[in-house]
Amino acid sequence: MNSSLQPLVIGHRGAAGEAPENTLASFRLAAEQGAQMVELDVHLSADGQLIVCHDDTLDRTTDGAGAIRDQTAEEIRRADAGAWFGPAFAGERVPLLSEVYELLPLTVEINVEVKDAAGEQLDAKLLDFLRQGTNLFRTVVSSFDHKLLVRLKAAEPELRIGLLYAADLYHHASYAALLETEVWSLHPHHGLIGREDAEDAKAAGIAVYPYTANRPEEWERLAAIGVSGIITDYPGRLNDWLAQRAG
Ligand code: G3P
Ligand code: MG
Repeated sequence: MNSSLQPLVIGHRGAAGEAPENTLASFRLAAEQGAQMVELDVHLSADGQLIVCHDDTLDRTTDGAGAIRDQTAEEIRRADAGAWFGPAFAGERVPLLSEVYELLPLTVEINVEVKDAAGEQLDAKLLDFLRQGTNLFRTVVSSFDHKLLVRLKAAEPELRIGLLYAADLYHHASYAALLETEVWSLHPHHGLIGREDAEDAKAAGIAVYPYTANRPEEWERLAAIGVSGIITDYPGRLNDWLAQRAG
């Protein structure tokens, strides 16, 4: 857990404000901009491959179409995932999860968000992948589906899990304790956590990584309440802002 005074810079879908989300170009840019962690989203293809994409279809972020679960990785990777964002990114593909791990240096941690519709087949594929080499130790798996996270943690006790939520919880650390398993991090919507909850979570040994804060006034509030990391579409800007703030 990050115990330094500065929050970790966590690049949302890479550097989604400045590159097409969830592409290798976006993850490369986030790393170049000094992100200490990147967040990405995974789904399973028809042939059981871990595919990095936010939506469960290709329609919004590629020139392809249709559900990821109905297409093989080879079919998915025919789509262009960059041109919609700008001509400089034409030719970007929808990455396999393994490609992101190969691309990023070991110093950049990876927050894998498993989307709610995930089934037990995805659990097995993800755990197989994470158990290879150093993958497990580079990873925090988060999800809005907390039952899924508890299931994964029971199967792999070394796994770091992070609870995503967009609710104004009565007491955040107490909710984490209800799960009766070790929780690495809380990932609340950035507007829904205050100082006391952040302090109580950290006192319980749980990191706090709110999402997705893109404006300096949001960063100021989060830094002031002492969060452990900030998930942002602009990791470069956040790094510059933190450097300036540190003076
Ligand atoms: O993991 C933080 C954030 O990505 C959660 O929401 O919809 O952007 O995946 P979403
Ligand atoms: Mg996400």
